[in-house]
Amino acid sequence: MSGSFGCPIGLTMSPGGHNSFPWTKTFDFVPQMATVFHGFVSRVQSSANRLDSFFSDPFSRIVLLAVVLFCHLGLRLTFYNRLNSLGWKRATIKRTEKIAFAETWVTPLILGAIFWQPISKWVLGQSDSEVLPIVLLAYAAFCLVMGAMFGFLWLLWRPIWRFQHVPTKRDVEVHDVSIQTGLTLARTRKCRWAAKVPVNQIFEMAVEQIELPVVGLPEQLDGYKIAHLSDIHLTGQVAPDFTAHAVSIATQWSPDLMALTGDIVDKQPCVAWLHDLFSPARAKDGCYFVLGNHDTRISDPSVVRDRMTEAGWIDVGGKIETVSLRSLDCQLLGNEWPWFTRPNDPLISDESIGFRLCLSHSPDQFDWCRRNGVDLMLAGHTHGGQGRLPLAGPILSPSWHGSRWASGDFYRSPTTMHVSRGLSGVHLLRIRCRPELSLITLRCPSS
Ligand SMILES: [Fe+2]
Repeated sequence: MSGSFGCPIGLTMSPGGHNSFPWTKTFDFVPQMATVFHGFVSRVQSSANRLDSFFSDPFSRIVLLAVVLFCHLGLRLTFYNRLNSLGWKRATIKRTEKIAFAETWVTPLILGAIFWQPISKWVLGQSDSEVLPIVLLAYAAFCLVMGAMFGFLWLLWRPIWRFQHVPTKRDVEVHDVSIQTGLTLARTRKCRWAAKVPVNQIFEMAVEQIELPVVGLPEQLDGYKIAHLSDIHLTGQVAPDFTAHAVSIATQWSPDLMALTGDIVDKQPCVAWLHDLFSPARAKDGCYFVLGNHDTRISDPSVVRDRMTEAGWIDVGGKIETVSLRSLDCQLLGNEWPWFTRPNDPLISDESIGFRLCLSHSPDQFDWCRRNGVDLMLAGHTHGGQGRLPLAGPILSPSWHGSRWASGDFYRSPTTMHVSRGLSGVHLLRIRCRPELSLITLRCPSS
């Protein structure tokens, strides 16, 4: 007879009547785990055997291996996008990124080197999958299952399907800024070389006049004009004249409001450019800005706020400003999460507020805006993916939602969101993804 009756908590009585120790239960647990593991192994092997019947010739087996490798790379890309959406310290993100990058290539190389013989025998049809080591089968199964899951979501949010996209009327004018201004925009040798790459569009500014239908837009604001700038990225690689051109075009358009959604400065010496660059900006109801993750790269981001304020811009980062737009009480919210602050939740039952506009660096704050009754959210950060494949669209996008909101116009009740591709970046390459200056005219959906 065995049991814990009459024994202190955690002790069991052995068949011989001796007290045993708490870890006895642990030892009981081991055979159970072994049974579970054995079941898992059998299941993986039987699934692999079923796959074998579909992939019986060398060519299809090579294709299957390629699919597994593709899923492996896709999962790392998924991880990369999510990692860069976090508010962690830059050094931590960069360190994690380096480890993840090394692991991306080391894992398949090591598995390939160790299991070269069983893999090659399996590919050549000299054995079935039962001879493949369980580690390999389990990892392949993991890649295929996770790849199918994330791959489905990735496919679902491709721009070609236009799910949750807002159809807009867009009038795009491309300014080759160096030709139009006659100025040399590349300030460094690296930038000069990058600009020579034939497909590179870093200096081709797309001035996009967008008629944006906004659900819930009060009639008074129909036709309201917002010039939206994002991701300026003053690094010193590109001459400030590029940004000056965008500010000049935006001001000439005579907007009602100008908005800048973060990533203004990357390098400390460029802080000195801010006043001259942004003080010429004019908009009837004011120019507003928030900061982004790259603004943490200078020693004191509050200096950026001060210089922008001196240039006549209004800092709404972490704040809610009540403003009168065409005599209508509206709220302007500045969301800099997760790198700085975001405002306390506004009182959405306050019916005196006719319209809520949120400036957010990251499109990941879309759900926060939806919870807080924001009518229109303007964001940047994802740079349109920096490069876009034909049909597939953007791949790289530092967002918790991957490339879903890389750029464009989206609606999920009650919020409409415009995500700009931004004007510049730290990477001196843009492929099928021109810098964007958004000149947005708000429209009631019925008009
Ligand atoms: Fe950016």
